[in-house]
Amino acid sequence: MKKLFIEETPHKIGSEIELYGWVDSKRDHKNIIFIDLRDRTGIVQVVGDQQFKELNSEDVIYVKGLVKKRPENLINPKLKTGKIEIEAKQLKIITKAKPVPIPVNTDGYEIDEEIRLKYRYLDLRRQRMFNNLLLKSKITTYIRNYLTKEGFLEIETPILTKTTPEGARDFLVPSRLQKGNFYALPQSPQQYKQLLMVAGIERYFQIARCFRDEDPRKDRAYGEFTQLDLEMSFVTQEDILNLTEDLFTKLVKEIFPEKKIQQIPWPRISHDHAREKYGSDKPDLRRNKKDKAEFAFAWIIDFPLFKEQSEEDYFYGSGKAKFAPSHHMFTAPHPDDIPLLDKDPLKVRGLQHDLVLNGFEVGGGSIRIHDPKIQKKVFELIGFSEEQKKQFSHMIEAFSYGVPPHGGIAPGIDRFLFAALGEPSIREVVAFPTSSGGKTSVMDAPSDASEEQLRELGITITNKKTKPNLFNQITELLNENGMEYKILEHDPVYTSEEAAKVRGTQLKHGAKALIMFADKKPIMLVLPADRKVDTKKFKSDYKVHDLRMATAQEVRKVTNVEIGALPPFGNLFDIPLYLDSKLGENETIFFNAGLHTKSIKMEYKDFEKVTKPEIGNFSV
Ligand code: AMO
Repeated sequence: MKKLFIEETPHKIGSEIELYGWVDSKRDHKNIIFIDLRDRTGIVQVVGDQQFKELNSEDVIYVKGLVKKRPENLINPKLKTGKIEIEAKQLKIITKAKPVPIPVNTDGYEIDEEIRLKYRYLDLRRQRMFNNLLLKSKITTYIRNYLTKEGFLEIETPILTKTTPEGARDFLVPSRLQKGNFYALPQSPQQYKQLLMVAGIERYFQIARCFRDEDPRKDRAYGEFTQLDLEMSFVTQEDILNLTEDLFTKLVKEIFPEKKIQQIPWPRISHDHAREKYGSDKPDLRRNKKDKAEFAFAWIIDFPLFKEQSEEDYFYGSGKAKFAPSHHMFTAPHPDDIPLLDKDPLKVRGLQHDLVLNGFEVGGGSIRIHDPKIQKKVFELIGFSEEQKKQFSHMIEAFSYGVPPHGGIAPGIDRFLFAALGEPSIREVVAFPTSSGGKTSVMDAPSDASEEQLRELGITITNKKTKPNLFNQITELLNENGMEYKILEHDPVYTSEEAAKVRGTQLKHGAKALIMFADKKPIMLVLPADRKVDTKKFKSDYKVHDLRMATAQEVRKVTNVEIGALPPFGNLFDIPLYLDSKLGENETIFFNAGLHTKSIKMEYKDFEKVTKPEIGNFSV
């Protein structure tokens, strides 16, 4: 085993040491050759002879040498090891490295993310990424030690399970033994942790992986993420808040000693007050938002138990029932408000608590319902069908055998670290994240299954042509053609004006894609976002009798995409594409790439090359 890390070398002046690592860089001065040798703890200068000539960046080597003080005038104050250097006595090249496709000795923000994720094992060599992973490991270790001391048991719960709704779509896994049936990956261990309370565990925690199929945002990973999931029996909301607050306050002191927590005890703000005063239920309470050392934690409490149901609540009834849970359907109503469940459900407060840090929701939890009658009432109010009620009947049954009152919380580990470091995306704190387009790092899943696998599972793919993810399809097309482009992630936008605003561009730089019906056939027209279609001109130029705009429903039917997210790639929907020449007056153009939250920026001439449109003049 390697015995010495590079950061320890300054303490070894005068000794002969053995080092293992990667060649970070090489400076050839004819008779002597310097290299910077790197391991996960830093770099150190090694002085070698002609043998060092054949070294290339990223080769893995062994060096035996003498640690020497550098002369005063050659000290490098920027390096932890800047006062010393290693005089090499022996060099072994362990493995050679090809030239790496991305630099690994910068902070990496400047490199296109798709490429960073493709070569994530190289990307993680950079110091910044190593530090992020180190912090993550320190955080989970700290949490484990703290909670174990407090009498908690760490217990694993199943990954192949049944749906546990937390407001996102489920990932389904087909069953071979029961063809046609599916497991769901858990959106959180919510139901299992409540069952563990029925089981008498009393204090449970888990560093739990959760799976959610939802649009990614800068603070929201696509696919999977990690929570500190915890649950306790015989507790009040006060107990949960105090324990969590104590844990995180001590954790910050230990792991982020340079940070200042703005207010201890953390402020507790009611949901209504937060909305009124700050216009948000996750307010950023930092006094100086630019001060990286400031940590403003807060509790948001007294949430309404229900919100009005919308189309997005597809799990509960997609807008068909009146109410949807604001947190989840196991959250207990405030005891004083139980009579209101019948009279005015929207007025009922829930015993929910959200943990906020610097404007991000880093945790959520609640006291749970333990009365089966109230649980059934909530199922009714959120519009559960008999079928859906059956799906959760195990909870009602379990609760009939003596359930302790219980509650808990689940702070997101990645979300917390992302907020703590002020990183631009949550992916910066995950070793192998999925890309914003839903592809896994390095391995590029999801991928095709073989005919044999599908047969065993009893699955036939009916619509092979439509790829499930339009965003991937667009970036694949651009990559295949060697095009350069940039992906912008932003808050959801629904109009060209909103899009231009979040992108910080002029309206005319946006490529607006419209679906129209020309003599009953769908076509796509693309024009600068500040212009309109001149229907008369188009009709006469292209000899069309009848030209009309598609309805929102028709757009969805033709493209499978919502209005406002439609990319100007008629070719991907197999419909003719007409491009207004005015768009070509822009050097670069921007468009939504199949999602309300993502835009692509690219050169106009490249866009024209990949989409091969019919170009005309039909805008005013
Ligand atoms: P909730 O859905 O609020 O609650 O999630 C709790 C915390 O998990 C983190 N989180 C995420 N982090 C990264 N990417 C995501 N896609 C993502 N989604 C959620 C956030 C969030 O605050 N079972 C309940 C907890 C409970 O009631 O005890 C739950 O999962 O930090």
